Amino acid sequence: MIDLNGVRLRNRVVTSSSLLGYGAPKGRFVLYGLSPFAQWVPLERFGAVTTRTLSLEPREGHFTLREDWRPNELPALFKKYAQALRKTDGGWLNAFGWSNIGIERYFAEYFPRTHHLNRIVSVGGFSAEEFCRLVDTVNARAEPGEIAAVEFNVSCHNVNFPFETILEEVLSQAVRRSKHPVLLKLSPDYDYLAHARLAERYGVAGLVAINTVKGLRLDPRTGEPLLKNRYGGLSGRAIKPIGLRVVSELREAGVQLPIVATGGIRNFDDCREYFWAGADAASLGSEVWLAPYWGYAFGPLRGLQILRLIRRVEAYDRDPSRRGAWARPGSGGGAAGRLPAAVGPAQQLLHR
Ligand SMILES: Cc1cc2nc3c(=O)[nH]c(=O)nc-3n(C[C@H](O)[C@H](O)[C@H](O)COP(=O)(O)O)c2cc1C
Repeated sequence: MIDLNGVRLRNRVVTSSSLLGYGAPKGRFVLYGLSPFAQWVPLERFGAVTTRTLSLEPREGHFTLREDWRPNELPALFKKYAQALRKTDGGWLNAFGWSNIGIERYFAEYFPRTHHLNRIVSVGGFSAEEFCRLVDTVNARAEPGEIAAVEFNVSCHNVNFPFETILEEVLSQAVRRSKHPVLLKLSPDYDYLAHARLAERYGVAGLVAINTVKGLRLDPRTGEPLLKNRYGGLSGRAIKPIGLRVVSELREAGVQLPIVATGGIRNFDDCREYFWAGADAASLGSEVWLAPYWGYAFGPLRGLQILRLIRRVEAYDRDPSRRGAWARPGSGGGAAGRLPAAVGPAQQLLHR
């Protein structure tokens, strides 16, 4: 176990919000809502699995909550899917818009079936009051220690809401109510340094960096947006340098909270790069869990790659030459391989 300022992880590799839905398939043979790759990896091997962002009420968002699609309706489903998620150069553009079954149904249907996982429950709302009610629900349904953390999504583009206007109120009211450690997910499009400082002030246990980057694609022939919401969130390879920049800038600004890095991570070297930049854990998102339809045929191979990645990060963590290298409070023992904050990134590279 690694303890990041109270956030207990089985190892330093976690999964990013939503890519594995609610952590379990809908039924034994219905993977709906879960990346098909998930069936090839034991999810309990992850440091933690983060749920899709849950709201107080069920939300269709820009997709659908229907689960009873008949085979002859599949073209309509695929069309909806294509308006919520598109492959772009070096990444993915999505606008699901918090399409989710709601927090009560999650706790009724999925929480009991995922007890073998270490879980991070992601929640999202549009006011401090909603966040307080979400926290109250998690408190009522999960005992302390039963989940690793609650993650506040106050940074999503796809719901078209000015989250910056409510962030301080949310943190000042909802964090202290939580019986579980709180993670704050940061957007590279907002003032993330200021938000990290607010997180420190109001008792947030750790940061998750980064959420998707606001993007747009249009059909070049018609000018019509490819996504239903017009704008979407860009993820994957294309945003890895942005994620690294955000993590590094947070550290350069003296932010001490643990950071879970997410943004374009695909392999062990990506994890190492984020650790060098200052991250304490690496989160696998779209580069690992999404593929064009034909790509899902390579599921068993992908499963092996993911397991190997986890093993390599665990071995890296155990490497005695790295132990104590990073004595920042809450960093989980400094095994992530980063030198003290006073040493700049260039010197760190020389120390490799
Ligand atoms: C299809 C899709 C759905 C996502 N849904 C959520 C969500 O519900 N809540 C959230 O906080 N982040 C969500 N994200 C953002 C990811 O958790 C992650 O922060 C982001 O994609 C950057 O990491 P990546 O480049 O490794 O995918 C979503 C990303 C994708 C691709």
